[in-house]
Amino acid sequence: MNDPQAKSARPMLATDPAPPPASGATALREAPHHRSWPVIGSSLAYIRDAHTFLRRLYERHGDVAKIDAFGTQCHFLFGPDANQFVLQNRGNLFENARWSYFIGPFFNRGLMLMDFDEHRLHRRIMNAAFSNEALLGYFDRMQTSVDAELAGWEAGDCLLFKRLKTMTLNIGSEVFVGQKPGDDADAINDAFLDTVQAATGLIRYAVPGTRWNAGLKGRKLLERHFTRALPAKRANPGPDLFSRLCEARTDDGQLFSDDDVVNHMIFVLMAAHDTSTITLSNLLYQLAKQPAWQERLRDECRAIGTGALAFDDLERFEDTSLAIKETLRIAAPVPMLPRGVTEECAFNGVRLPKGAMVAVAPWMTHHMPEWWTDPQRFDPDRFGSARAEDRRHPFLWTPFGGGAHKCIGLHFGMMEVKTILHRLLLKFRFTVPDDYVMPQDFTSLPIPKDRLPIRLERLN
Ligand code: HEM
Repeated sequence: MNDPQAKSARPMLATDPAPPPASGATALREAPHHRSWPVIGSSLAYIRDAHTFLRRLYERHGDVAKIDAFGTQCHFLFGPDANQFVLQNRGNLFENARWSYFIGPFFNRGLMLMDFDEHRLHRRIMNAAFSNEALLGYFDRMQTSVDAELAGWEAGDCLLFKRLKTMTLNIGSEVFVGQKPGDDADAINDAFLDTVQAATGLIRYAVPGTRWNAGLKGRKLLERHFTRALPAKRANPGPDLFSRLCEARTDDGQLFSDDDVVNHMIFVLMAAHDTSTITLSNLLYQLAKQPAWQERLRDECRAIGTGALAFDDLERFEDTSLAIKETLRIAAPVPMLPRGVTEECAFNGVRLPKGAMVAVAPWMTHHMPEWWTDPQRFDPDRFGSARAEDRRHPFLWTPFGGGAHKCIGLHFGMMEVKTILHRLLLKFRFTVPDDYVMPQDFTSLPIPKDRLPIRLERLN
């Protein structure tokens, strides 16, 4: 149903008062319900092209719209104020446990699925594994691992997404687990893919041949893998994330059980592996389309150094940081963040009933012409200090989420993307045909449907 009133004339500003809670309110509207197919609802429209689907939803209904998809109902909330309302989560109105609907059986008891006091405790323990000192340890290992991986890369045509995926898995295996994946590599890679892809399965039972079933099998394989490896890790810790999770404790001595370590490992490895691969693919796609930017970043990489990087060098990537930010704006690897409503409340006069699922959509906010200049254009300078478009609202640019659940691996992710990009740009030039447009697969996190065919030309 069309509700022309729902879209406000001007976007609310960060300084505007937060939307009031529903208590005592009488004039609340119900969210406009987006009509779609019986049973499957809007699932296919989302999978076919989530970006177009979300844009149409916003254009048609305004900043709140209720959809049926993937066997459930969800209130989408659009715009930076919606992001702030939900992610800042004053009064604990929203719970992350609702992620379980999509990924619960596969990422059971991962940090992102926990809430409130329990989440705070686990996050406090896990912080130790993401401290600067811990990152420094990962960084050395990461550089060696990137060089070893790239030694095997040939020039010519390739499916870049596939290469990057294998590379980030292998790096993850060294940096997170402290070992080469060896013979398990393909099985683990497939298990991750299966668990992630299962999230948006239309059949959500263990029926053979379905994505859901493959996801459950993937989870079992990962559990076995890490449970088997855990005693040796506790006995012989190294500078890897697995060891850090075994050792991590709060100031008052709280630490993870064996089950916690396995559950967190599976979630963190997934969270790190896919998001970094997606960011790198999207960035290299943009750089192949914009050769001037590719040269600008290559010049910066050369100026910083052609050998191994020092940890402090990561801060010297200025143009590169702008390009990464712009890539994360154009194609946020996590396009929507679902939550459950714990207590009836309202956003901009629309009722959000207790128990409902709501979702904010960083991708949509990142493309709003009300906030960004020519939002479809790859224009990293918009993040530079002269324009600073992202500063127009504290929740306008949210590829890492915000609030209590803001990505704990943000600095790790940036470190990985910069390290790999530095080596790649020094070694190869990347090109795609002028008319090439990368198609996206939205079955789960958005990845290149064609795995990104690209030409690599060797530079040295
Ligand atoms: C460019 C790369 C990345 C992007 C875009 C990204 C995005 C996100 C987002 C949007 C969330 C918040 C989800 C929510 O609020 O529901 C999140 C949480 C999380 N991310 Fe990342 N992430 C990235 C890299 C990483 C890496 C490298 C790691 C680990 C090394 C990681 C580990 C986590 C964890 C553990 C959480 C849950 C935090 C919590 O609930 O307290 N992420 N990430």
